[in-house]
Amino acid sequence: MGLAVEGSAPLPQHVAVIMDGNGRWAYRRHLPRVAGHRRGAEVVREMVQSCAELGIPHLTLFAFSTENWRRPSLEVRLLMSLFRLLLRREIRKLHANGVRLRVIGERSRLEVDIRRLIDEAEALTQDNTTLTLTLAVNYGGRWDVAQAARRVAAAVQAGQIRVEDIDEETLAPYLALADIPEPDLLIRTGGEERISNFLIWQLAYTELYFTDTLWPDFNRPALERALHSFAQRQRRFGRTGDQVAEDACSANE
Ligand code: FPP
Repeated sequence: MGLAVEGSAPLPQHVAVIMDGNGRWAYRRHLPRVAGHRRGAEVVREMVQSCAELGIPHLTLFAFSTENWRRPSLEVRLLMSLFRLLLRREIRKLHANGVRLRVIGERSRLEVDIRRLIDEAEALTQDNTTLTLTLAVNYGGRWDVAQAARRVAAAVQAGQIRVEDIDEETLAPYLALADIPEPDLLIRTGGEERISNFLIWQLAYTELYFTDTLWPDFNRPALERALHSFAQRQRRFGRTGDQVAEDACSANE
């Protein structure tokens, strides 16, 4: 039994992950970078299974950023192939395990067949409730805020919203992931300690966990260490520590 699942330690309802370190994992083994991505894709499978088993209902993975197009074209093609494989070959298994798959990001730059596979996978799994797996593909946090602003502006133009009524709550429903709880825990593997244009709006109150472990090595014990760290933290959401402690006492009465 892992540390984080002992007793009544609070589990995050939504875990977001920046999966970094595939290239370095391969380099250390004198393998091509693509070998690291292949192993990384296997770890994605294991992670989905672990979250489902532990009862974490939402998992969001940063699979391809708006900046990743700058990588060598062979590597971009390989990453897209891995994504294709997941959508084509593994979607039935995910469906059978109650996984609802969704993709966030700018789709127009993705190849037509991938867009079609995404539509099919989302339609097939839309009613599943065990785990929502969201893949961020050609996603950037700034893109997300910009697309939300564009849609709010269109609603203003259509006379549905008044400019003076626009506030955080007006904008929020137009952002990616609006219909699920904001991430409680962000895990970034690979040693860097930054957000790298991931969910910049949605991570405002998220607990951040950085680890040197490279993504291909991020196994079940590594996940449990992250969950244990999360369970130790006191989330105040702007309140004082005393207020949080009082609330916890009254909730336990
Ligand atoms: C970062 O490692 C990882 C990525 C850019 C892509 C993540 C992709 C996968 C885990 C595999 C495919 C996933 C799916 C969902 C099909 P890096 O290459 O930047 O590593 P480095 O920093 O060591 O070079």
